[in-house]
Amino acid sequence: MNRGIVVTGGAHGIGKQICLDFIQAGDQVCFIDSDEKKSVDFAKESPNLFYFCGDVADPLTLKRFIEFSLEKLKRIDVLVNNVCRGNRGILSNISYEEYDYILSIGLKAPYELSRLCKDELIKNKGRIINIASSRAFQSEPDTEAYTSAKGGIVALTHALAISLGPDVLVNCIAPGWINVAEQQEFSREDRFAIPAGKIGTPKDISDMVLFLCEQKFITGETITVDGGMNKRMIYHGDWNWHYNAD
Ligand SMILES: NC(=O)c1ccc[n+]([C@@H]2O[C@H](COP(=O)([O-])OP(=O)(O)OC[C@H]3O[C@@H](n4cnc5c(N)ncnc54)[C@H](O)[C@@H]3O)[C@@H](O)[C@H]2O)c1
Repeated sequence: MNRGIVVTGGAHGIGKQICLDFIQAGDQVCFIDSDEKKSVDFAKESPNLFYFCGDVADPLTLKRFIEFSLEKLKRIDVLVNNVCRGNRGILSNISYEEYDYILSIGLKAPYELSRLCKDELIKNKGRIINIASSRAFQSEPDTEAYTSAKGGIVALTHALAISLGPDVLVNCIAPGWINVAEQQEFSREDRFAIPAGKIGTPKDISDMVLFLCEQKFITGETITVDGGMNKRMIYHGDWNWHYNAD
């Protein structure tokens, strides 16, 4: 389609699949990633794929990344704010600085990149797709940093949708459990936890990214893509009952 696509955290997992699917659709893609080795190896896969090595927590790096992207792509039609990390919180006593660093990656970078891409996205009637997590709505213990970033990006999504509409449509995807490792086999208990009967794949998420880029009447939304995991009601003993039933 010859669109200019910007993706964060593109060298592995969900971000990598998003890059591949846009290239498959005929677009040009520029991604940023802090893992230089993985980035170099991945960028060899297509002449339409460009990488920029850096940490999205640094605002100067983000500015340089967008300048680099414009130089390579000549235009920006879609910004995918994919990257986040960190999964500890108050029980691990993480410091103010550690907490702030996770917010810089998962929440401040998406804002700053949206700001830096704003003029291009408005001009091209573009899209912003943010990647949250089902953890924006549900928690395990000791996950305050990651969960705050994810809750924040859900709210940032509807704020941006209202500010940048109707030119730019802004949506968010909240993935559930997505297998980004080599592991292919999962236990019966794990599969049982997910009504769709399988652990998710990066392709399950990138399909939704590309779908949202085609839509004209969805904006400000967060779409949960978790195989129905958050819809299962669990009572004490429920697990055994189901396991004994089959
Ligand atoms: N995998 C899951 O089960 C799952 C579930 C819900 C949400 N998500 C979300 O999906 C997104 C992608 O997750 P994933 O599992 O594909 O991740 P991943 O760990 O497989 O890949 C993340 C990529 O981002 C890069 N990266 C990490 N920190 C960076 C930084 N500060 N600056 C630049 N690059 C950085 C890494 O080098 C890596 O290539 C994240 O926002 C994550 O929170 C993932």
